[in-house]
Amino acid sequence: MKKLEDVKKIAIIGGGAMGHGCSMVFAGAGYPVGLYSRRAETLEKAVVGMRNDLTFLADRGLGKLEDVEPTVARVATTQNMEEALEGADFVLECVAEDMALKQDIFQKLDQLCDPDVVLATNTSVMSPTEIASTSQHRERILGTHWWNPPFLIPLVEVVQTEETPQWVIDLTMDLHRAIGKRPVHAKKDVPGFIANRLQHALWREAISIVERGIADPATVDESLKYGPGLRLPVMAPLENADMVGLDLTLSIHSYVLKHLEDSHEPSPLLKEKVDKGELGFKSGGVGFQTWTPEEQKALRANMLDYLTKAVKQMNEKEA
Ligand SMILES: NC(=O)c1ccc[n+]([C@@H]2O[C@H](COP(=O)([O-])OP(=O)(O)OC[C@H]3O[C@@H](n4cnc5c(N)ncnc54)[C@H](O)[C@@H]3O)[C@@H](O)[C@H]2O)c1
Repeated sequence: MKKLEDVKKIAIIGGGAMGHGCSMVFAGAGYPVGLYSRRAETLEKAVVGMRNDLTFLADRGLGKLEDVEPTVARVATTQNMEEALEGADFVLECVAEDMALKQDIFQKLDQLCDPDVVLATNTSVMSPTEIASTSQHRERILGTHWWNPPFLIPLVEVVQTEETPQWVIDLTMDLHRAIGKRPVHAKKDVPGFIANRLQHALWREAISIVERGIADPATVDESLKYGPGLRLPVMAPLENADMVGLDLTLSIHSYVLKHLEDSHEPSPLLKEKVDKGELGFKSGGVGFQTWTPEEQKALRANMLDYLTKAVKQMNEKEA
C-alpha cells in the first residue's frame, strides 16, 4: 500500500495532447516522468509541445521562464515501455480512446508493474471497470479524468471501480492535490462520471432550444454567457439551490421539469448537421453557427486568455 510520500516517479503511456500535457504538470511539480510513445515523432512533438506550453504559461505569469527547460528535462521520453515504467509508482495511460487498445495496454502494465503501483486511465468516457476487466490485479486500476488543456483546467475526476480499495483512492487524490490539481472523487463508475453528465445535460437542452425554434444558436450561448454562466465559477447549482431555498427549487422543478428535453438519443438536428458535413471548425467553420478563420482563432485565444486569468486568480486566492 503506497502513500503519497512513496511516489517518486510517474510514468505516462501515450504522448499525444493529454500525454504531453499531463507529463509537464507532473514534471512541473517536481516529479521525474517516464513518457512512453510508440513513435519517435510523437515524442519529439511532445517535447516541443511541453516547451511551448510552459513558455506560454510563464509569459502570462503562471510559472517562470527559467523553470521551462528544467521541467522539460524531468520528462524522459522513450519508445520502450519498460524503460518508462522502471521505478514508477503511479502510471497514467493516455492512449487513443479505444477499448481494445486500452485493455491491451493495461494487461501489459499489469504484468510489468508490481501490484502496489497504481495504474490510472485518462479515458474521457469509457468505463475504468471495463478497461481493467482483462487485467489480473484490477484493484489498483482506476480512472483519472483530466480536462483539456490539462495544464490549465484544475479538475481531475478520480473514478473508482467496485474493486478499488481506499488506499488507491487516497493516494490518487493526494497525488493530484500535490501537483496543484483539484481532484474530485466519483464513487461510482458511471458513463460521463460527474462533470460530463452535468455538461451534456446542458448541451442537450441547448440543442433542443434551437431545434424547437425557441432561440437561435448565438442567442442560446449568449443567454448562458451573460446570465447564469457568469455565476457558475463562484456559485454552482447545489450552492445556488441552498441560497435561494430548496422550497423554491422544488416549486420551479415541479413546474418546469416536464417541459425540458429528456431524450435518450442524440438530437435529430445534430444528426442532420453531421450527415451534411457541418461539423464546425473542422469543416470550414460551419456548425451551429458559421465561423470565419479569424473568428475561430479569436474564440480559441479568448478561451486560453480567460483560463489563464482564472487560474492565476485561483492560485492567488489559495496562496
Ligand atoms: N483531448 C481531450 O480533450 C481529452 C480530455 C480528457 C481525456 N482525454 C482522453 O485522453 C486519452 C488520450 O487523448 P489525446 O487527446 O491525448 O489523444 P491523442 O490522439 O492526442 O493521443 C493519443 C496517443 O495514443 C497513441 N496510440 C494510438 N494507438 C496506439 C497504440 N496502438 N499503441 C500505443 N499508443 C497508441 C497515439 O500515438 C497518440 O500518441 C484518450 O483516452 C482521451 O479520450 C482526452
